[in-house]
Amino acid sequence: MTYAAITGWGKCLPPAVLTNQDLGTFLDTDDEWIRSRTGMRERRISHVPVGELAYVAARRALAAAGLDPGELELVVFGTTTHDEQAPNMASGVQRRLGAWRAGAMDVNTACTSFLYGLSSATALIRSGVVKNALVIGAELISPFMDWKNRNVAVLFGDGAGAVVLQATDREEGVLAEKLGCDAEARDSLRIHGMGTRYADMTHRIGDTTWIFDGQDIFKRAVKAMSGACEDVLARRRLTPADVDLVVPHQANLRIIDAVAKRAGAPPEKVFVNIERYGNMSAATVVVALCEALEEGRVKPGATLLLPAFGAGLTWCAHLVRWGSRVTPVGTSDAELPPCSRTGLELVQEILARKVGAIGWPDPT
Ligand code: UT7
Repeated sequence: MTYAAITGWGKCLPPAVLTNQDLGTFLDTDDEWIRSRTGMRERRISHVPVGELAYVAARRALAAAGLDPGELELVVFGTTTHDEQAPNMASGVQRRLGAWRAGAMDVNTACTSFLYGLSSATALIRSGVVKNALVIGAELISPFMDWKNRNVAVLFGDGAGAVVLQATDREEGVLAEKLGCDAEARDSLRIHGMGTRYADMTHRIGDTTWIFDGQDIFKRAVKAMSGACEDVLARRRLTPADVDLVVPHQANLRIIDAVAKRAGAPPEKVFVNIERYGNMSAATVVVALCEALEEGRVKPGATLLLPAFGAGLTWCAHLVRWGSRVTPVGTSDAELPPCSRTGLELVQEILARKVGAIGWPDPT
């Protein structure tokens, strides 16, 4: 039997920080509301395209696996915020890595894109189509954010992470997964202005209005993720006590707490980094996984549970068995170009670009 072990991992967080206090300078919101309702204190705003964040994360993941890019057979790029759609994002990473033997595909299931990509790559390895794969979860939400809407503007941030999968006959990697979608709730999170559907209407691409029913998403997310966790445990005849660490999608601390409680996981078995990054959509779970490894929270042979949800409303949970190595084989010298601006200055630049776009009132 072939499995797809996770052998490398890497993250890339843009350096510019946008704090809750920064948000309060241009929105009717405050630190107390954001912290108590979401668990977030700050998030990152990128000064580079999403492809650049992904490339740096990819180089770090390949170094951690000790895999030469020339050996890579597949690049899967999970994102909703493409720099461009044709050619796809994965081919851009393939070219920059010099991964000339690799196939390249993008996956878009919103916040679950990394995990749906993990499923796709795992299946292609387990069925013998490829021997290894690089799976990226990366998101550049800031240019698409509706910065005048406090309901959504406080929730999201930019970032990227990647893992390397390699074929093995040991029982490692994804052991079971459940994928689902509540399509009747598509309108609970819908971004007007992303996609050609809006091109000749009141919005230009990138000039967005977010349709967002936070409470509906909250309830559906808790129910769907809890059900998916139960399902994957049942498939492997495991109980919550067999799970060593839950690494959930980081959309709201209250959602994480509710899912953990229903999944029977005590707080010490749940990894949370939402306070530093907010919701980075496709990047949340993979960045959290990288940080759990860096902090020594993933032990050799650990059983991990990764539940997530996103627009669609897509949802899923993955049960993952870690291998014996929890430290990187090597490190990469890949770095982002330096950034001299603050998170607030970057947001102000985005706002300035949007002023005059159809549908945007002058924020002053
Ligand atoms: O990954 C997929 C995307 N993520 C999600 O979809 C997240 C899911 N939903 C949530 O996390 C929560 O529903 C939110 C954090 C979005 C909202 O929390 P809530 O406890 O459901 O608050 P609410 O929407 O019921 O709003 C409560 C109050 C309202 O005022 P009134 O009507 O009680 O006077 C809102 O207008 O809080 C107000 N409010 C704010 N106040 C200050 C909403 N956003 C803000 C804000 N700052 N940023």
